[in-house]
Amino acid sequence: MIDRLRTAAADIVDRAGVPAVAIVLGSGLSAYAAEFADATELSYASIPGFPTPRVEGHAGSLHMATIGDKRVALMAGRVHFYEGWDPADVVFGVRSVALAGASTVILTNAAGGVGSHVQPGNLVALTDHLNLTGRNPLHGQNIAELGARFPDMSAVYSPAVRSQIHAAAADVAVPMAEGVYAWFTGPSYETPAEVEMARRLGADLVGMSTVPEAIALRHMGIDVGAISLVTNLAAGISATPLSHEEVTATAAEARDRFTRVVDALLRRLTA
Ligand code: HPA
Repeated sequence: MIDRLRTAAADIVDRAGVPAVAIVLGSGLSAYAAEFADATELSYASIPGFPTPRVEGHAGSLHMATIGDKRVALMAGRVHFYEGWDPADVVFGVRSVALAGASTVILTNAAGGVGSHVQPGNLVALTDHLNLTGRNPLHGQNIAELGARFPDMSAVYSPAVRSQIHAAAADVAVPMAEGVYAWFTGPSYETPAEVEMARRLGADLVGMSTVPEAIALRHMGIDVGAISLVTNLAAGISATPLSHEEVTATAAEARDRFTRVVDALLRRLTA
């Protein structure tokens, strides 16, 4: 695995340069990468060993853009556990960009809102997560070149990066909430009982991504930040059945606010 990761990282550096920062663009949010017309675009399929998304609507390419005098890897699309990948494959992309040089990685996602303070359309900076899946990307032999066998997870989401997220949101006058994200594997949405369980356990959001990447990056000592876009009220909180269409429609409606915050955040992180 370490050789496969190093090969992918070397290919990214060879063809696109060394990223200082990387951002993973979640469901419905990938279009942001297209704003950088001068970026070097590498399709995931062209990077050796890189898993490529198997779901419609999730593009798969890395756009290396220049912001300030730094390179930023914009990852449009990600692979999810529910597509049938092993957790180690789910985190392959973020591990590669971290090995390529990114020391800060921002993870973004679409999520269901569980707490009454998170409404559809809201942006939420993650403070912590609940891994309710029983799966872990570090399962198996430890890759000592990446990190310790038993990595500390007491601050997965860097408080310094979180401050930058809040400052960036303030720069562009977009409200930014805070919350705890509970990872479910999907692809079925949660039941109302599962959402109620997550809420009682302390979750504000439920979703199907982000947590494995955050764990793997923290293992590597990377500074992680995460922003959820609440696309719907979670099952049972919502009076209506959930649909992927609702998720993508809310993401589209919120795209402008998301873009402004991410623009401001990347400017700050590359300053
Ligand atoms: N649950 C899980 N994942 C999601 C949701 C949800 O309600 N909305 C967007 N992604």
